[in-house]
Amino acid sequence: MVKLTGPNKIKTAVFISGNGSNLKSLIKFSKLEKSPISINLIVSNKKKAGGLKFGKIFKIKSKSFSFKKKRLSEKKILLMLEKNKINLICLAGFMEILSNYFIKNFNGKILNIHPSLLPKFKGLNTHKRVLQNNEKYSGCTVHFVNSKLDSGKIILQKKVKIKMKDNHQSLAKRILVQEHKLYPKAILKVFSL
Ligand code: GRF
Repeated sequence: MVKLTGPNKIKTAVFISGNGSNLKSLIKFSKLEKSPISINLIVSNKKKAGGLKFGKIFKIKSKSFSFKKKRLSEKKILLMLEKNKINLICLAGFMEILSNYFIKNFNGKILNIHPSLLPKFKGLNTHKRVLQNNEKYSGCTVHFVNSKLDSGKIILQKKVKIKMKDNHQSLAKRILVQEHKLYPKAILKVFSL
């Protein structure tokens, strides 16, 4: 395996909307010698996203865009990505659907993490729907992003057993712990030379 050093690492932007716990785990991973990526930019669609604090803590350039005027925001983001020579986007709890225009015009790869065993339970309210359906297992998936929601090529998945006493919050919590491990593993799988 060829190890990429600081300036040669793949310049990555992480897109968030909420707490940013996946962002935090990706930042920690990026600092390891074995990591092929560096995190150079954080993009949020919410000014008040809790995860933006990690931009301050780890001194990473961060910017929020409202997405009320989606095409305009996407154009601005594409420019920013180009300026910062970003080659990879990791969506991590980013609650906007990127348009085809954006996906086609970004000069790099886009990954996403979704809290279910895709192709099952695409979209929102995943854990509630999983429990309503009396599933025995759920889990999380890292996949490439294409123009269809949660439908790009799967890179890695982790199964999580559902407990009798689980509610959607307890299940979300257990799956999140696995998400933090799975995203770095998936990045290593895609980018290790
Ligand atoms: C994660 O469960 C992610 O899979 C989902 O939203 C959650 C975001 O959590 N899409 P965080 O912001 O990374 O803590």
